[in-house]
Amino acid sequence: MAGIELTGGAGAQPAGPPEPAPAAARPAAGAPAGRVPAHVAIIMDGNGRWATGKGWPRLVGHRRGAERVKEIVAAAPDLGIRWLTLYAFSTENWKRSVEEVIGLMRLFSRYIEKEADRLAEEGVRMRFVGDRGPLESRLRTLMEGIEARTAPNTRLNLTVAINYGGRDEILRATRALAVAAVAGEVAPAAIDEAGLAARLDSAGLPDPDLVIRTSGETRISNFLLWQSAYAEYEFTPTLWPDFTTAELAAIVARYGERKRRFGAAAG
Ligand code: FPP
Repeated sequence: MAGIELTGGAGAQPAGPPEPAPAAARPAAGAPAGRVPAHVAIIMDGNGRWATGKGWPRLVGHRRGAERVKEIVAAAPDLGIRWLTLYAFSTENWKRSVEEVIGLMRLFSRYIEKEADRLAEEGVRMRFVGDRGPLESRLRTLMEGIEARTAPNTRLNLTVAINYGGRDEILRATRALAVAAVAGEVAPAAIDEAGLAARLDSAGLPDPDLVIRTSGETRISNFLLWQSAYAEYEFTPTLWPDFTTAELAAIVARYGERKRRFGAAAG
């Protein structure tokens, strides 16, 4: 279904810094333990169950989910969150019914069209990660437009993952590295974490400090596999359409009590 055109050896090391940056290519999110997570990533799950539990079509759940996106985006900067990444459509979601896929794509287009002014006014920079190739050209144009329009904004960095899969992203980056190696631009022995990270869709974004998944499922479903190597995780039973700013604030407060070690020994 992808590709459819829709019409609509650490022992010898000296003691390092308490929080070593996992990859040099990415700026540090700057969220030491006891503080607010600078980068929060959310797997927004449970729209379908929310709707079917009420006897409604799944798309009603996605529409309500989009309302939650607006609320959480508006609230995030006041909670101290500077980067917010939302998983909206995975590389596996093409397996859903054509009706649901088309409905979701329309919802993404409508969100960009209707929210563009508000995002621009509120200082939100919007970006996307994922393989845009299979997306409808109209949606791609809207995505490029809002990215360009909001590029100067710094209050909140909003990234939406559409047709995104962590494995797919790593594969595409690996292919890019192979092409560079064959062209003699990079020596295979010189390939390092920073070189790979720089070729990921997320290049330039800090790694997430905290990954939240709603709906009670406790898996990561191919989301930010590389970037979340040292992330903290929170799983909540709340279905995404019921997820509130108050719950996000409580999760952010709990994060502040966690001790992050990035592989170092407990102090
Ligand atoms: C997972 O819940 C959710 C999705 C695949 C879609 C996420 C989309 C939105 C929240 C709406 C719009 C987003 C933006 C950025 C405007 P599910 O449908 O798999 O739920 P289920 O597990 O209960 O079936």
